[in-house]
Amino acid sequence: MREQLESIRANAETELSKATTLQEFEAIRVKYLGKKGELTSVLRGMGALSADERPIIGQLANEVRSFLEEKIEELLTQLNEKLKIEALEKEKIDISLPGKKKFFGKKHPLTQVIDELEEIFLGMGYQIAEGPEVELDYFNFGALNIPKNHPARDVQDTFYINEDVVLRTQTSPVQARVMKSQSPPIRIICPGRVYRSDEVDATHSPVFNQIEGLVIDKGVNMGDLVGTLQLFAQRVFGENTKIRLRPHHFPFTEPSAEVDVTCWSCGGSGCRMCKGEGWVEILGAGMVNPKVLIECGIDPEVYTGFAFGMGIERIAMAKFNIDDLRLLVENDLRFLKQF
Ligand code: DAH
Repeated sequence: MREQLESIRANAETELSKATTLQEFEAIRVKYLGKKGELTSVLRGMGALSADERPIIGQLANEVRSFLEEKIEELLTQLNEKLKIEALEKEKIDISLPGKKKFFGKKHPLTQVIDELEEIFLGMGYQIAEGPEVELDYFNFGALNIPKNHPARDVQDTFYINEDVVLRTQTSPVQARVMKSQSPPIRIICPGRVYRSDEVDATHSPVFNQIEGLVIDKGVNMGDLVGTLQLFAQRVFGENTKIRLRPHHFPFTEPSAEVDVTCWSCGGSGCRMCKGEGWVEILGAGMVNPKVLIECGIDPEVYTGFAFGMGIERIAMAKFNIDDLRLLVENDLRFLKQF
């Protein structure tokens, strides 16, 4: 038995010296120290020994067992250490590589202008209203006192879905919708897309944006309209900007005006931008026609109001000095990154 134990120790040591993986160490442990292992079966056979031999062989067997246990433990610790170092080597981060740059987008110039205009009117106590882009002919025209034979209804200008439904040609129908659903005082602006069957060129597009304004209350007069637009123009185009109203005709306002601002490029002295005029037209406005008030259920004897509407692309082009409307929708980053 003594020889058996010695040879177990010797064999195990040789095998351990060759083992390189965790699995191999585990196999050796099981082979010698496991429940059915070689050393275990030697220990089991100790009953057959004489009383003199038993303590001697027992001690030797225990020695061999602790030797193997410690040896395996030691080698495993070494192996684990080695594996850890290898893993760290492999995962090494090269901190000299350039980092991944985050690309922060920004708002489209049109959105910037819409936000700015909204901000100005919100500051004056207006609320933002919205309406559908696919609109009833009634709201786009009829409710706004645009009679059947008005040129704005011409198929040339209007995309008809069917006889009663159009792609709105202006944001003005939102006025009618708001008047019919709210009672005065009303103070809203309505930004949104509008559609007209125009050919695309540097200043025309079949889709563009407008912003509409509507104020209805007791005692609202033309002076309020002028004051509002004057303040608005200064905010958008600068402190020194002046406005001028020229008589015009819109079916839904009476009286109506086209509104010019002093040229932001030359300040009013005349330049190429304003074609020597010193003034640039930016919006239409007027006192809400009593016919429209009546149609929308508001008593013109009690309430009056003003309205205005402007094209947003035009204002964006003016502010950013853009000479071709198409640039705004061509999605060319080289252009858009400038704003
Ligand atoms: N809707 C008009 C247009 O598209 C602009 C306009 C003019 C709106 C006068 C108004 C207004 O509210 O009072 O040309």
